[in-house]
Amino acid sequence: MREITTKRIIEMKGKEKITMVTAYDYPSALIADKAGIDIIFVGDSLGMVVYGDENTLNVTMDQMVYHTRAVAKAVKRGLVLADMPFMSYEISVEEGMKNAARLIQAGADAVKIEGGYDHKKLVKKLVRSGIPVMGHTGLTPQRYLRLGGYHITGETEEEIEEIIRDAKALEKAGAFAVVLEFVLSDVAKLVTEEVKIPTIGIGSGPYCDGQVLVWHDLLGFYEHTPPFVKKYADLRSIIQLALENYKEEVKDGRFPSGQYYWEFLDKDDFEKKKKRAMERLNQEESEE
Ligand code: KIV
Repeated sequence: MREITTKRIIEMKGKEKITMVTAYDYPSALIADKAGIDIIFVGDSLGMVVYGDENTLNVTMDQMVYHTRAVAKAVKRGLVLADMPFMSYEISVEEGMKNAARLIQAGADAVKIEGGYDHKKLVKKLVRSGIPVMGHTGLTPQRYLRLGGYHITGETEEEIEEIIRDAKALEKAGAFAVVLEFVLSDVAKLVTEEVKIPTIGIGSGPYCDGQVLVWHDLLGFYEHTPPFVKKYADLRSIIQLALENYKEEVKDGRFPSGQYYWEFLDKDDFEKKKKRAMERLNQEESEE
């Protein structure tokens, strides 16, 4: 069992801020874990940042299982959380249970679903079966088509009510935490005070119990990111410069230089071996 459990995440509420970041492959998960991130999250945002889609709706269970397996192999300390993709839990509780189990069997410690109140039955069943669940309210990207894009939430009475209803339903059903995405910070603060489970914010201000960001956004892989993203690095420029240097050195013959390749020290030995190898090849060719 990894050091960070869902029990530990719940205990952190009010004492210590929770850190969460997405990771979709082995090397990034290794680095995130080494950095001491509490929750390493295989988000369905991979559809956009890894596969180049406009939204998350094309992500499949097979993709989630595949990426979860790679991440789980790398993580020793943090909690590995895997996203349930679009339509993997909406059709029936049974299908949701089966799909959640696939992610757990791929190495996740918990699963995340979008929504709350509408899925309370599923959350309750999963938790009872031993699968910890994180909910997600506010902006729910899997409802991209209905929402008509990505907008801040919590402006209207109805939205405030819906966000609180979701968070409370998740808490009651046994979820261990809830993501609040792109929620006005006053509303995020209210929710954080109203529920005993931790709230993990993204674009929802400082009053949440923790924060989550997408790997490619916070590390600056893309020029355009959501407005709430702080870029902690500009890896795109660093990687591009490295690749340009590599290209130039290969083109002008500076790479590979002496320390990057190996040759026969005894050239006579090479000549003898070469001669015998060539003779055998010629013999083989003439026999064919
Ligand atoms: O898939 C994802 O990366 C997410 C985060 C935005 C929380 O759901």
